[in-house]
Amino acid sequence: MNDYDSNRIVDLLRNEMGYEKTDNLEEADLVVVNTCAIREKAHEKTYSDLGRIREVKKLRPSMRIAVGGCVASLEGENVLKRAPFVDVVFGPQTYHRLPDMLRLREETGRSQLDVTFPEIEKFDHLPAPKIEGACAFVSIMEGCSKYCSYCVVPYTRGEEISRPMVDVLMEVAQLADQGVKEVTLLGQNVNAYQGAMPDGNLADFALLLDYVAEIDGIERIRYTTSHPREFSQRIIDCYARIPKLVNHVHLPVQSGSDSVLTAMKRGYTADEYRSICKRLREVRPDISIATDIIVGFPGETEEDFEETMQLIRDVHFDASFSFIFSPRPGTPAARMPDTTPHRVKLARLQKLQALIDSYADEISRTMLGTEQRVLVLGHARRGEGMLMARTDNNRIVNFAGPDSLIDTMVRVKVTEVFPHSLGGELL
Ligand code: 5AD
Ligand code: SF4
Repeated sequence: MNDYDSNRIVDLLRNEMGYEKTDNLEEADLVVVNTCAIREKAHEKTYSDLGRIREVKKLRPSMRIAVGGCVASLEGENVLKRAPFVDVVFGPQTYHRLPDMLRLREETGRSQLDVTFPEIEKFDHLPAPKIEGACAFVSIMEGCSKYCSYCVVPYTRGEEISRPMVDVLMEVAQLADQGVKEVTLLGQNVNAYQGAMPDGNLADFALLLDYVAEIDGIERIRYTTSHPREFSQRIIDCYARIPKLVNHVHLPVQSGSDSVLTAMKRGYTADEYRSICKRLREVRPDISIATDIIVGFPGETEEDFEETMQLIRDVHFDASFSFIFSPRPGTPAARMPDTTPHRVKLARLQKLQALIDSYADEISRTMLGTEQRVLVLGHARRGEGMLMARTDNNRIVNFAGPDSLIDTMVRVKVTEVFPHSLGGELL
């Protein structure tokens, strides 16, 4: 989501103020720091990065620094207290106001702050996204109203709010016109989507998927992230009737222990999660399932952790984003007693990641000899005349083929399996 926001900020600053992107901090007139507050490490990186940028600003005082994203949202005024050399502080829902805030900064000579959550006006003020290649993100909903006990997102990005369905479809159609083949629908909880339709009714996520699939030129649909609580049978049924929907789903589980899931306020049991995976596999037997897991949540016992390991064995995850619990300011879990030593948490994390990595290897090996529909991303890193493409389940396949295939979908046969990529043959 931050990656998407950053690109939109670049588009906005280019269109409205004539800025061009540079990779060279020394020559930048404006530095925008788009921050993440999901875990403490990311949060604190804001200030170490700002320290570095400040040194450059000392040499060139005309440089402007804007801080946005979830740390700005969470800390507000405090960013200016800790880093008074910052010129503008904006939130995830106010970045469309950045040009105005920058102008006001020049007019008044004072730092500007706006981290409010206006209704979804943001999209009405953003230019059409500039596309590179055949893949694009489209934000369909923002924010989160789940309030999992460990998570800052509802506080930093505000409550769930969906973009109207016609707006989303128009954006996807425009992208398809520019040659986009693969669209990733984005939101903190895409399956909570409730988009207004012209007839006054609300479209759910399953209906949105049906309409997006109708758009000519779009050949592959991904989405991220979804929540098990609203992973309805209607969404599972989409996998049976929409071939454009990739054979891959990212469905965060967080833990395999019911008592931990309750303490996390996730609103489902481990068996309910297993049931979703089972029903998905009934319609798509080789769907790849990836997840997010938190280890060392306050009160997590060795038995709780074993239940998570059992769930991993049962579901056979293909990949995970797994992290040690990080207490976040203002969240209920930050105040829960936490007596598990850090080294125990680290050992659990490593054990869990080793198991999931072994499944990822196993899944790669079962792909040997199969035919895969892939999107060609560009030239391979190595080898004359070699192309690089991505499979449904996010494997990179290298194969020989003409440049004219770049940014198109082709079929390849997997002929080699390496630890971090596959080799193939164009069909
Ligand atoms: N500590 C550790 N991991 C967290 N996540 C969210 N909040 C925390 C936290 N306080 C993880 C969850 C979520 C992913 C985006 O980040 O697994 O799914
Ligand atoms: Fe955070 Fe839970 Fe919302 Fe995901 S569903 S963004 S983990 S509060």
